[in-house]
Amino acid sequence: MCGIMGYVGTKPAAPRLLEGLSRLEYRGYDSAGIALAGEREVRVFRCAGKVAELADLVAARGMGTETAGIGHTRWATHGPVTEGNAHPHRAGHVTLVHNGIIENYAALEQEMAALGRKPLSQTDTEIAAMVLDAAYGGDPVTAIRRMMEKLEGSYAMAILFDDKPGTLYAVRRGSPLVVSGNEEGTWIASDITPLLAHVRRYFVPEEGQILIATATGTVLVDAAGSVAAPRWLPIDWDDASAQKDGYPHFMLKEIMEQPQALWKTLQPRLGEDGCVSFSGDGIPSAFFRKCRRVIITACGTAMHAGLLGKIAMERMARIPVTVEIASEFRYAGPILDADTLVIVISQSGETADSLAALRLAKEKGARTLSVVNCKGSSIARESQYVLYTHAGPEIAVASTKAFSVQILALYMIADQLALGRGDYGPAQRLAWAQSLRRAEALAARTLRLAPQIKEAARELKDAENLFYIGRGMDSAMASEGSLKLKEISYIHSEAYPAGELKHGAISLVTFRVPVVAIATQESVRVKMLSNIREVRARGARVLLITREGWQPEEGLCCQVMSLPAEEDILAPFSVAVALQLLAYYTAVERGLPVDQPRNLAKSVTVE
Ligand code: F6R
Repeated sequence: MCGIMGYVGTKPAAPRLLEGLSRLEYRGYDSAGIALAGEREVRVFRCAGKVAELADLVAARGMGTETAGIGHTRWATHGPVTEGNAHPHRAGHVTLVHNGIIENYAALEQEMAALGRKPLSQTDTEIAAMVLDAAYGGDPVTAIRRMMEKLEGSYAMAILFDDKPGTLYAVRRGSPLVVSGNEEGTWIASDITPLLAHVRRYFVPEEGQILIATATGTVLVDAAGSVAAPRWLPIDWDDASAQKDGYPHFMLKEIMEQPQALWKTLQPRLGEDGCVSFSGDGIPSAFFRKCRRVIITACGTAMHAGLLGKIAMERMARIPVTVEIASEFRYAGPILDADTLVIVISQSGETADSLAALRLAKEKGARTLSVVNCKGSSIARESQYVLYTHAGPEIAVASTKAFSVQILALYMIADQLALGRGDYGPAQRLAWAQSLRRAEALAARTLRLAPQIKEAARELKDAENLFYIGRGMDSAMASEGSLKLKEISYIHSEAYPAGELKHGAISLVTFRVPVVAIATQESVRVKMLSNIREVRARGARVLLITREGWQPEEGLCCQVMSLPAEEDILAPFSVAVALQLLAYYTAVERGLPVDQPRNLAKSVTVE
């Protein structure tokens, strides 16, 4: 979603802003712009298009010598994708870029109209710029505070004032923003990816704090006007991990990285006795004790990981677990108390719906634990405890390696929840940890099937509609496989629990609608085969994803993909890789922009 960049220092700002924006492209965007602060004027460049087009525009008009500026990649929320709606927006003395949504912009627009101010764009951001300019009397901090009192919604902003050319201001509420600096100057950005090449530490301004940045450093001013000390965090991702490293797409690279990601996530949590331990994460076992129920809340792929976590937790800990879509959770009036554990799963740690769900859970007194990949993100910081996954940067919009490590993290949590059970002793714990150690090898062995999966994708590439079906854990995997295919190949697909199809949707199955049938679960194997026969009888071409050694009868399936899997509960580590590769190769066959599919954003920071 929208990306913000800011630089103030001793070097020309334009190339640094453009380079930073190109690193933020992965977040998903449709237009881009920068503003350069000079002694006499602020130069603004905008275009409805890619950062490369913006760079051409700036080069044509002159990169300039300005050493301060702000930049933006826009993911449209208010008003279509036009140059006029692209950021930065100017109003009077003020130029700003914004990520988030100003919910009361209509009322503020009327207020501004009463002052004779009319916007040129259709954006909520320009209204915020007008409010800020109206409040400006020469003191930026006072004006920003007044603006914040008026704005409702979520925002991260980087701001320039015409008469303060060497100073950058920034503020955030409910939207991400990171800050860092080195001898070249100060950098601000929506996330740490543009900073990786420059610095090894960063901080996140607290909500409501105002950042004042100059070439020599930063000052944070809190709501009471006092200077606050930043809480620096180390950067443990390297720049190379955010590069394609010879792969044609980030998505393929990230699928291939899954074995290491799984090991890196598991290894620090294996104690001296070989069992799962969260002591290195600072999460006491007592946190899980007397927990009467668990609610897992997340969005999209992360929510699908939650469905698998539910099955593992209920089986192992015998406590009820529900999985709630985060955007619904908040409005459903959830019943929460101190014996309820709310687990929020998020790769980015910035998903607005998941963050809102977390805040509600805290407000209602529930225990909160987050499973997050991005260090220092809002969800990680605001939850009671955080269990970091160690997938490294995930740049492709479609989540892949983050999904596998989320499942692993939830499986580890299942161990901690089961500790209270009398029959879950050291032997069972050790056996479980040994099972988890096998996840890495299962993913690695499945990756070797890439050529066969590529062939299967050729069969799917011209389909207009298809079904993914499965039972038990495979039903959750069907949902994930279908989502992956939809988002990057633009082929419509539906995921159904295989036994549910006959209650309505089977009317859609014809010879023109291929079915991806996932059958890796021993416990429901026979039933699943019956469901496959039902769709086959209606002419569907079936691609069967199953376990090594399971061969269906002749003629039942057009293609069979046999995956390594030793026990039902571990099958998702193989199936995830196979389904991701299937979606990936299908999108490649269709010639689509795999890493940045249309309309999508990596970090969804609006509700
Ligand atoms: C799908 C995908 C999304 C995200 C969802 C949650 O491939 O990436 O469905 O899983 O937007 O994002 P996070 O995990 O960052 O909260």
